[in-house]
Amino acid sequence: MGFEKDWNFDKIIDRSNTGSMKWEPSVLRVKFGKGRENLLPLWVADMDFLSPTVVRQAMEERLAHQIYGYTMIDAGYSEALISWYQRRHQWTIKKEWVLTSPGVVPATNYLIQRFSSPGDKVLIQTPVYYPFAQSIVSNGRLVLENPLKIVEGRYQMDFDDLAKKVADPRVKLAVLCSPHNPVGRVWTREELEKFGNICMENHVLVFADEIHCDLIMPGFKHICFQDISEKFAQHSIAVNAASKTFNLAGLHQSSLIIPNVNLRNEFSIYNETLGVGPRGSSTLFGAIATAAAYNGAEPWLDDLLLYIKDNFIHLKTSLEAQLPGVKVFDLEGTYLAWADFRSLGLSNQKNIQIIEEEAGVALDHGDWFGENGAGFERFNIACPRPLLKKAVTAVVAGFKKYL
Ligand SMILES: Cc1ncc(COP(=O)(O)O)c(C=O)c1O
Repeated sequence: MGFEKDWNFDKIIDRSNTGSMKWEPSVLRVKFGKGRENLLPLWVADMDFLSPTVVRQAMEERLAHQIYGYTMIDAGYSEALISWYQRRHQWTIKKEWVLTSPGVVPATNYLIQRFSSPGDKVLIQTPVYYPFAQSIVSNGRLVLENPLKIVEGRYQMDFDDLAKKVADPRVKLAVLCSPHNPVGRVWTREELEKFGNICMENHVLVFADEIHCDLIMPGFKHICFQDISEKFAQHSIAVNAASKTFNLAGLHQSSLIIPNVNLRNEFSIYNETLGVGPRGSSTLFGAIATAAAYNGAEPWLDDLLLYIKDNFIHLKTSLEAQLPGVKVFDLEGTYLAWADFRSLGLSNQKNIQIIEEEAGVALDHGDWFGENGAGFERFNIACPRPLLKKAVTAVVAGFKKYL
């Protein structure tokens, strides 16, 4: 069956007055400071593209019914999710494994609360998505870092350090960010096997955050952690969502995949204490949008990935050519590009000042992701190319004044 291409990723969409966290001046002021309300935002991870039309159509159809009472949404939602993972990732998920939550960050907090105790340690691989550390700390657990290392220009896991760290009996959970935000790695099967085996030998439950699993650049393949072996499936919990893939984050819908019946039951009982029913909470429109995207937006996604790849090439070639010494790490997955500014010889604070004050651009600063992120910057490249070009030109001009 053919499809009509009805999207244009080059088109700039005005997001003002939509409450967009990325663009809202009051949020920029809180996050970046007074006077920074009008920065060009390439920070928080949502896209400046319209979601696929099928998503809007499905929601409009349901909206028109005008009764939004308690709704059984499970069947269509999990069927769409199961079919998607089968088609895109060749992974067979059983319906009973799927529980829901209103987002991956809430799920992270619930898992920390249910599967560790105050004072326990939770391992993360820094530099990494900062709400992990925030969730660990705000729940009274301790952050244990297993820093990634850069080997020949590519981030790698440090397995020797991992083995030492998880030997501590206070480590109850290890967070796997796969693909990895912000370093853009799509972990190989071998890497995931090593990571999983070390965790399992030490009885550490793996929490696999696979929210970026559909944002994979040509030539790379995401391996679903739980699909690697029955042992991994039984000793882990995976969380995924269509929210990054199809730009649905405001709809607050994500899934927990828990193949182990005991873990699932424990989590279901915990869900009851949150007042959301044993299978977790879903939002009516979040579930409808997710199912519609999984069922009908594959061509949109395939095209999006090519656009992101071209955006990445623009960013990398422009920054590296015009600011010699800056290194943009190869993007294997996600739409978040990670750049190393350290060899320019300016301080982390100076880099930030140049980017915000001189260039007028909002980026996620590397030190937000952990101490080892200082001197790095994360560019959200999921925006129309004219916006990306404007931001890159401004960043280059800003730095040139000081070099
Ligand atoms: C690794 C990772 N996990 C979770 C999230 C956010 O998930 P949610 O919006 O479902 O809470 C993000 C958003 O950037 C992310 O990069």
